Amino acid sequence: MRVGVLTGGGDAPGLNPAIKGLVYRGSELGLTVVGMLDGWRCLLDPLPEVLPLDRKAVRRWDRDGGTNLGSSRTNPFKQISKDGEPQDRSEELLTNIAKLELDAIVACGGEDTLGVAARLSTLGVPIIGIPKTIDKDLAATDYTLGFDTALKNVSEVIERSRTPAGSHGWVQIIEVMGRHAGHLALWSGVAGQAHIILIPEHPFRYQRVFQLLKERLGEPGLSRGSSLLPRYSVIVVAEGARAEDGEMVTIDDRHDAFGHIRLGGIGEVLARRIDAETPYESRAVMLGHPQRGGPPSPVDRIMGLIFGGRAAEAIADKQFGMLVSARGIAPACDLSLVSIQEVVGKITMVDVPRHYDTDRYHLKGIGM
Ligand code: F6P
Repeated sequence: MRVGVLTGGGDAPGLNPAIKGLVYRGSELGLTVVGMLDGWRCLLDPLPEVLPLDRKAVRRWDRDGGTNLGSSRTNPFKQISKDGEPQDRSEELLTNIAKLELDAIVACGGEDTLGVAARLSTLGVPIIGIPKTIDKDLAATDYTLGFDTALKNVSEVIERSRTPAGSHGWVQIIEVMGRHAGHLALWSGVAGQAHIILIPEHPFRYQRVFQLLKERLGEPGLSRGSSLLPRYSVIVVAEGARAEDGEMVTIDDRHDAFGHIRLGGIGEVLARRIDAETPYESRAVMLGHPQRGGPPSPVDRIMGLIFGGRAAEAIADKQFGMLVSARGIAPACDLSLVSIQEVVGKITMVDVPRHYDTDRYHLKGIGM
């Protein structure tokens, strides 16, 4: 069988190990794998190109971050034409699948890429999904590739932000990705021992943030020797967090082909409010795309290899229209195949009653 693999949406560490796992296990099962470049965009090209992938080609890919196949946020069901009109180009995509003589497709991605895969599956395309997103917000799986590496990346920055914040006595705000879900912000904030963590699942109150700062920092101007209070605070804010009386902050008003707007800027808004309404001085940093950067962590390498191998087995068994899903704690988790339709139209958010202290804006039960 000839299998085409693609990676769509935001890149994430763990994708290349997944491709290696697919190729390696696939080679044992008699599959020939080709790489499709730049996500679904590859299949809209009049002359689609593919990259032959054998064991030799992908031998070192487990160590690579990002995606060696390239990625895009292409939605074949909603391509914007030159005159700005949305077009359904799925027919061209189906023609290209036939032209490339593909017997199956493996789509590695988040809710958008897998949403397209789910639609194509209902049109009869033999498809398997592999879950990927640093946001960890996909329904139907407990693990999504990229989360563990991003968690490590962000936690390290939180840790490093303490020295400048401490030296200067700042309130350091660190804005973390995750779109509408606070998983990355919450868990990196706990790992990096941030003082306050603000997540999209629970709108915050500015006055409560100011009060928590006062509790920790006391009145400024106290002589340093006479105060045992810390001189700085680190606040982690998810890009999708908002105040009770505010909106989510966006970079601009453009929407991508899946209808998403780019979030970003809440950290700076919060910093300005702290500067204006409290005696403390604040700095904000938006971590941006390097959060997803660098080599995959051990967990992402292992999970990528496992997901890829399981996808190869599903194809050899002709179990199409499925997503490889992990239940339990990665990497020693239970793998299964679930219907790819299960990811459509839902995301998993932080379970606030279980994990979030809505008074102290932190993880429940650790007394911060
Ligand atoms: O979904 C992954 C993610 O990194 C989100 O956390 C973030 O909001 C979004 O992608 C950023 O989009 P882009 O990579 O297109 O700038």
